[in-house]
Amino acid sequence: MDLTVHIGRLPLKNPVMTASGTFGYGEEYAEFVDLNLLGAVVVKGISLNPKEGNPSPRICETPCGMMNAIGLQNVGLKKFLKEKLPYLRQFDTRVVVNILGNTIQEYVRLAKALDGAGVDAIELNVSCPNVKKGGILFGTDLRALARLVTRVKQSVSSTVLITKLSPNVSSIPGFAKAAEDAGSDALSLINTIPAMAINIETWKPKLANVTGGLSGPAIRPVAVRMVWEASRAVSIPVIGVGGIMHADDAIEFMLAGASAIQIGTGNFLNPGATAQAVSGIVTYLERKGISNIREIIGRVDGTAPHNNTDD
Ligand SMILES: Cc1cc2nc3c(=O)[nH]c(=O)nc-3n(C[C@H](O)[C@H](O)[C@H](O)COP(=O)(O)O)c2cc1C
Repeated sequence: MDLTVHIGRLPLKNPVMTASGTFGYGEEYAEFVDLNLLGAVVVKGISLNPKEGNPSPRICETPCGMMNAIGLQNVGLKKFLKEKLPYLRQFDTRVVVNILGNTIQEYVRLAKALDGAGVDAIELNVSCPNVKKGGILFGTDLRALARLVTRVKQSVSSTVLITKLSPNVSSIPGFAKAAEDAGSDALSLINTIPAMAINIETWKPKLANVTGGLSGPAIRPVAVRMVWEASRAVSIPVIGVGGIMHADDAIEFMLAGASAIQIGTGNFLNPGATAQAVSGIVTYLERKGISNIREIIGRVDGTAPHNNTDD
């Protein structure tokens, strides 16, 4: 059974990755999952300096999912390179580092430092405020996104560049194409969807931050649709994220056009979800008599051809 997929020039031994922010730096899950079984571990978003994140409560349950407003809490670049990366490097899995900055310069400094440290891929989280532009998000401004991707691409030598798109846009194919044209080697989508929940006894928002990002099975159909649209607009690989709980969901994303998938909220419900998804995919392919997983990518049947001129 051949489970190998490619993210640009980076081969993964199977398509199952962890989603940033839901699997810590790997070691938090190592007692539940053999990290050697995974295609890649994507770590919590790293910034130049450590971040404490938002005040609590910053997570709440919702029907078919959860909301979070963690606020990008992380150990910062220095500690990541010194303590977290060497730990992850012991395993036979790809290491992808999700990065976030307030300015293009911050992203470039992070990318250069990680490129030199030999990580397999960098995933750009573009949902962070661009302070210098007065709060415009890179992920929702086509020109800002293109500039960011271009500059980060110029600053790395061997590291594969993945751009993680925001779902908070009117035309996902347009943003997918902009990231591809700017030199991104691959795309991942989607990030969480802005949402809000209120406690009707206290009349207070359930999150201290008032709003947060919705994730889990509730967003899966939205994510599948966006992966389907994006993968038809570009020729670089697309990584599907959003509400994947087990192998069947992963297959759904691959049929929609994803070359690989990430499991996020699923890890909170079942810490063994990623490794179980790998074995579930094997069982599915055996049942279907398929020996190479790449045969199913983008094979959804009966959909109208995508019209690129709409973008
Ligand atoms: C608690 C939590 C923290 C997250 N932190 C990050 C992050 O640091 N960087 C990022 O790009 N996405 C982050 N995400 C988004 C996930 O990586 C993923 O895109 C999203 O949750 C949708 O996938 P899911 O439904 O499988 O969770 C976070 C999600 C959750 C639930």
